[in-house]
Amino acid sequence: MDAIDLARNRLVFALDIDDPDAALACARQLAGTLKWVKVATRLYTRAGAKLVRELQDLGYSVFLDLKFHDIPDQVEGACRAAAQLGVGLLTVHASGGRAMLEAAARGAAEGSTGRGDDVTRVLAVTVLTSLDQSDLTEIGYGRALDDQVGALARLAREAGCDGVVASPKELPLLRDALRSPFGILTPGIRPVGAAVGDQKRVTTPGDAVRGGADWLVVGRPIRNAEDRVAAAEAILDEMAAAL
Ligand code: C5P
Repeated sequence: MDAIDLARNRLVFALDIDDPDAALACARQLAGTLKWVKVATRLYTRAGAKLVRELQDLGYSVFLDLKFHDIPDQVEGACRAAAQLGVGLLTVHASGGRAMLEAAARGAAEGSTGRGDDVTRVLAVTVLTSLDQSDLTEIGYGRALDDQVGALARLAREAGCDGVVASPKELPLLRDALRSPFGILTPGIRPVGAAVGDQKRVTTPGDAVRGGADWLVVGRPIRNAEDRVAAAEAILDEMAAAL
C-alpha cells in the first residue's frame, strides 16, 4: 500500500450537508478520491439508513456519528443495528458510564453482517469541545477538564471501546497515556491557509498525523472548496508526507 492509500484510510470527510440529495451528489464527486465519510445526526435524521447504504454502494466506509448516550440496553441495540448496517466507525458518549460502554462494544461486535465494513469500531466522546470548565462545574463534574478527558478515555478503553474522539489540543495528553491500537480520531483540522471558521483549536493535517491521530475528520476545507477533489488530494498529500 502506498503512502496516499495509507492516508486515505485515515482521512474522514464530514458530510455535513442537510439535504440528502446534495449530500449524495457531493459524495459522488469525491468517490474514488476519499474512502471515509462521516454522517452525523442532522443528515441521518433526514436521510437515515438508506443514505448510509447509498454511500456504501459508492464504495465508502461510513462513520456514523450519532453519539449514543442512553441506558445500556438501548445503546447495545443501537450499536448492533449500526454494525448490521456495516458502518466502520460509530460514536457513543463515554459519560454514559462503564456498563453502557461495555454494552456498546458488545452490540457492535455482535452486529457484524459482512455488509460494508466487517468490523465496526466504537469511539467514545469524552468531553464535548463545546464545553469549558464552568460548564463541567454546572453539570456537576468536579474534575479539571483535562483530568476528565483522560479519565473518560481510560474508562472507554477498559470497557472495550476502540478509541476516542479528541481535539487536537488533547492529542498529546491522550497519545501519551493510551498507546495504539487504541485509536484517536481528531476533528479541528485545517490545511495551512484554510479558513478556520468556528473551530477554535485547529491543527494541520501533517501535525495531527505526527501527533499520533489515527483518523482525521475534515469537513469545510473540502466541502467549501471550489475544487473539492483537488482540496481532498492536497490534504491526502500532506498526510502522506507526514506518515
Ligand atoms: O467543517 P469542519 O472540518 O470543522 O468539520 C468538523 C467535523 O467534526 C464536523 O462534523 C463537526 O461536527 C465535527 N466535530 C468537531 N469538533 C469536535 C467534535 C466533532 O468539529 N470537537
